[in-house]
Amino acid sequence: MHARLRRIGPGQTLPFDHFLLRFDTMTHRRRPETSLAHAGRDPWNNHGILNPPVYHASTIASRTLADWEARESRRFETYTYGRIGTPTSEAFESAMAESEGGYRAVSVSSGLSAITTALLAFLKGGDHLLMVDTAYGPTRRFCDVMLKRYGVETTYYDPLVGADIAALVRPTTRVIFLESPGSLTFEVQDVPAIAAVARDRGIVTMIDNTWATPLFFRPIEHGVDLSIHAATKYICGHSDVNLGVVIARDHETFLKVKTASSVLGVCAGPDDLYLGARGLRTLAARMARHQENALTVAGWMQSRPEVDRVLYPALPADPGHALWRRDFAGACGLFSAVLRPVSKPALAAMVDGLELFPLGASWGGYESLIMTADPAHTRSATPWTAEGPMLRLHIGLEDPVDLIGDLTAGFERMAAHATV
Ligand SMILES: Cc1ncc(COP(=O)(O)O)c(C=O)c1O
Repeated sequence: MHARLRRIGPGQTLPFDHFLLRFDTMTHRRRPETSLAHAGRDPWNNHGILNPPVYHASTIASRTLADWEARESRRFETYTYGRIGTPTSEAFESAMAESEGGYRAVSVSSGLSAITTALLAFLKGGDHLLMVDTAYGPTRRFCDVMLKRYGVETTYYDPLVGADIAALVRPTTRVIFLESPGSLTFEVQDVPAIAAVARDRGIVTMIDNTWATPLFFRPIEHGVDLSIHAATKYICGHSDVNLGVVIARDHETFLKVKTASSVLGVCAGPDDLYLGARGLRTLAARMARHQENALTVAGWMQSRPEVDRVLYPALPADPGHALWRRDFAGACGLFSAVLRPVSKPALAAMVDGLELFPLGASWGGYESLIMTADPAHTRSATPWTAEGPMLRLHIGLEDPVDLIGDLTAGFERMAAHATV
């Protein structure tokens, strides 16, 4: 496990040189946990109040004609209209950009709108898009329905393709989209290899980095141009907000995304932005607990006779474990388990009686969730051939002993049903 998450027990102290090792004396760059606690705040320009104010604004007035007429040329540098930006959006965006070493960020109303805005910023009719086969389902639908209608052709590629993606590149390829680990099945992509192929050919790369959060993977450092988050998940962390953000590597990519968001009219509401910024402050503590709990429950699931395999890169037996160890600093609480073949009524008996795992999409909140999923419906480059059903689990902040107890009772109900 990454050193950043190593804990010390009560009464233990860390040697002084441990701190020296952790502090980058050359750059004085803050460690990610520190950035998340402080970034985007400016208490000394806010009456000493620690958290940024929530500005509810549409109209932002100009005092003079000169200011009014200068607005257009300073659109993204100053506050001109609520939809384009306020101190509240700037607080969240600058914290997100700092958290991943990006240039600037663009906030929008949901994770999906962050994905669609980023794609629309770089694609036009006649272009070709390389989309990972394990993309989040609605991302895929956007390609198949909207982008197709506007003349953009999408090729889905095997998430494990690595540098061989070069063979799929066409003269018209403008964007390579990644999601790692992939939705539902959690394949880990060789991000640096794909980004290097793209960079050599002037192709823009973007990644859905929601699973990892800024704490566990920093795409821009691995050569990716745009890092996208459904802040809806861990960043907000309480299952009560939809919020999306795109972090751009440099000024040029930022300008493209910001122009697209402003032309499309997508923006985030001030209360949601405030909750996003607030969520960042506790993200490190929550992610450490999600990871710890998920490792416990996933390891236990793997030992169950009802389970064929657990899909979670943090487990040493997972095929993506080596790449995950190489590139990631941790794992979140989301994984899947492929069960051995079982009847639908027996599966329902297990799932319906769970007390701590409501059936629910989304994830990243404080609570555990479960859902069934069939990747066969959302794959084309890499057919899904598992015989048994798949369960996707989100492991929350509860005590894992209780979670395992609830799942154990579920498996017992499943067995009882199967033998009736
Ligand atoms: C990987 C991933 N990306 C993006 C999204 C979309 O986020 P939102 O629901 O805020 O649109 C989700 C939502 O489940 C997701 O799982």
